[in-house]
Amino acid sequence: MIEFMGKQLANPLIASSCIATESVANVLRLAKNGVQGAILKSCADYERGEISGKREFAVDTTTGYTYASAPFESEILTLDECLDMLRALRPQTEILLIPSFTASSLAPEDWISACQQLEAAGADGIQLDFFYMGNLIGVDGLSGRIVSLLRELNAALQIPVMPKLNINLPKDYIMPLLVEGGVTYVSLLDSVRSPYLRKTDGAYHISDRLDAGTTSCFGHWQLPLTLGYTYTAVKHGLNVCAGGGITCADDVRRLLAAGAVTVQSATFLTKYPNRGSKLFDK
Ligand SMILES: Cc1cc2nc3c(=O)[nH]c(=O)nc-3n(C[C@H](O)[C@H](O)[C@H](O)COP(=O)(O)O)c2cc1C
Repeated sequence: MIEFMGKQLANPLIASSCIATESVANVLRLAKNGVQGAILKSCADYERGEISGKREFAVDTTTGYTYASAPFESEILTLDECLDMLRALRPQTEILLIPSFTASSLAPEDWISACQQLEAAGADGIQLDFFYMGNLIGVDGLSGRIVSLLRELNAALQIPVMPKLNINLPKDYIMPLLVEGGVTYVSLLDSVRSPYLRKTDGAYHISDRLDAGTTSCFGHWQLPLTLGYTYTAVKHGLNVCAGGGITCADDVRRLLAAGAVTVQSATFLTKYPNRGSKLFDK
């Protein structure tokens, strides 16, 4: 058995925050198929305005095309939508329910009240999503602001917070700050869009199509980066929920060997919500 956020898990598979975890029905389907936890689609405390641009999630196994993109308003749930989902799910499933919250600044007041509401609605832990804040490196006093935010959140909540890392937060910079902020769980790695190098007649060329069978929505470069972040986080004593680039059971074996406690998948579980068990050894 695996221990994560106070629960015993029968296998290491958790669903990443993504389409697969954006509705009650989707999460219950994953739970029925053996997934041990769901990081719910990210939410923010905002009012949805007019949606500009369209949401795209494309997988074409014949032409080999895997792609995702979307504007903020059609991608990010409102806080109320996430609270409703959590309240509906909590009485229906024992799996880990981990809502994901994002805000537009690192000011603790932008995070605390929303996270307390998510805790009261039955969350086992809360993922902190920094993706939409862009590249924070160079922001005045960044290190101190990250540490203060994490400490204040830890003081205000009974449940753990789990920052989600992206490559705008370099691994050797961010891990010591997480530890200083009192964090014990980390979620990684957010989307890294990369080209696909295809080999034909012994030569490589860049393809505008990803290979749907062997890459995630974000390409071949994601898994090696995930492995690097996992290894570094584990060296700092953090409990890692590692994903980004998982396409088969061997990818999962490698992340567990690097020290991850649990693994997470978005693309695979969105494509194949009933086939999660193919990702881990029984
Ligand atoms: C359609 C789609 C929507 C996503 N939405 C979110 C989100 O709301 N919050 C978040 O933290 N990550 C989000 N992600 C990123 C995934 O959680 C994950 O980090 C990324 O897809 C890499 O994992 P994968 O290779 O298993 O797809 C999304 C990914 C996809 C494909």
